[in-house]
Amino acid sequence: MSHLQQIEQLRNQALAELDSLNGADAVEAWRIKYLGSKGLVKQAMALLKDIPPAEKPMYGKTANQIKGELTKAFQACKDAKVSSQQQPVTQSVDVTLPGTSAKIGHRHLLTQTVDEICDIFARMGFSIAYGPEVEDERHNFDALNIPPAHPARDPLDNFYIDEKIMLRSQTSTVQIRTMEATEPPVRIISPGRVYRPDTVDATHSFMFHQVEGLYVDEGVTMADLKTCVDQFCKAYFGDDIKTRFRPSFFPFTEPSAEIDVEFSQDDGSTKWIELGGCGMVDPNVLESVGYDSEKYTGYAFGLGIDRGVMRKHGIPDIRLLFESDVRFLRQF
Ligand code: FA5
Repeated sequence: MSHLQQIEQLRNQALAELDSLNGADAVEAWRIKYLGSKGLVKQAMALLKDIPPAEKPMYGKTANQIKGELTKAFQACKDAKVSSQQQPVTQSVDVTLPGTSAKIGHRHLLTQTVDEICDIFARMGFSIAYGPEVEDERHNFDALNIPPAHPARDPLDNFYIDEKIMLRSQTSTVQIRTMEATEPPVRIISPGRVYRPDTVDATHSFMFHQVEGLYVDEGVTMADLKTCVDQFCKAYFGDDIKTRFRPSFFPFTEPSAEIDVEFSQDDGSTKWIELGGCGMVDPNVLESVGYDSEKYTGYAFGLGIDRGVMRKHGIPDIRLLFESDVRFLRQF
């Protein structure tokens, strides 16, 4: 059999095989066998160098034609057999339908409250300042006129990290940090977490939230303080809220007062709940940050945010705010 006859026989054999194939794998195996880089067509073309010169042109032309013919036949077979075997699309997405609603949760009640409190004070002209939760003794005590022997510094009443560093027990630290960095007038609030090893019960937690307020300028009086706190309570709790200022003591304010708001009880009676402390900034504090206490006066307050939230939403136990039970949280 001549070389030409051999290569034509290869073509007939390849086409016959292709005709009888079934499935994508078989078609691919056929391609590798005949048209692959080491396939039979390639091998037949490599014979060209051994063919007698007179036959070479005819052999080369025929081999090229056969390669083209088999490539086309392979493509046609693949389109017809393989594509038609692919799974028909049985489910399609109707992009014109409205989407399915997804429940993605919402901000925690305390986060919503901090934002609301910031909005109210912003309307009264206060800016917002933040301070670190890990503090030194100067900002938590010394500069706030709390002397070394004061009971508030007792290691059993604070979360000390080492002798001088602690988790802040009050947001009053931010009063100092703000005044150290700013000349008067100063008008800021500072919301944030504070930490005390208090025994946990319905109204006490070892971690809770306060919002500090500080206003220092020439001629600031106790009347300004009472108006500001009263206006805040009305804006947050509602116009019918009752507040009272109960004389008290804080080392960093003089005079000082506790701010109480009236809670309604389940039995219809009412109860005063302490919301925070306040007072006129002690001259020693102003001097400790380099302010002239003859020229400037100021007021400060520190309110318990968690207690305010409880009063506003009728929440009987502070622990509900921190237990992360979504059945409770999704109500707000
Ligand atoms: C202070 O922390 C003062 N720094 C407030 C202050 C600021 C006074 C500026 C004067 C000038 P007191 O320890 O009373 O004060 O705490 C303030 C409020 O935090 C309390 O009235 C209460 O609402 C809340 N609070 C205190 N302890 C807890 C606790 N363990 N759990 C939840 N809330 C608490």
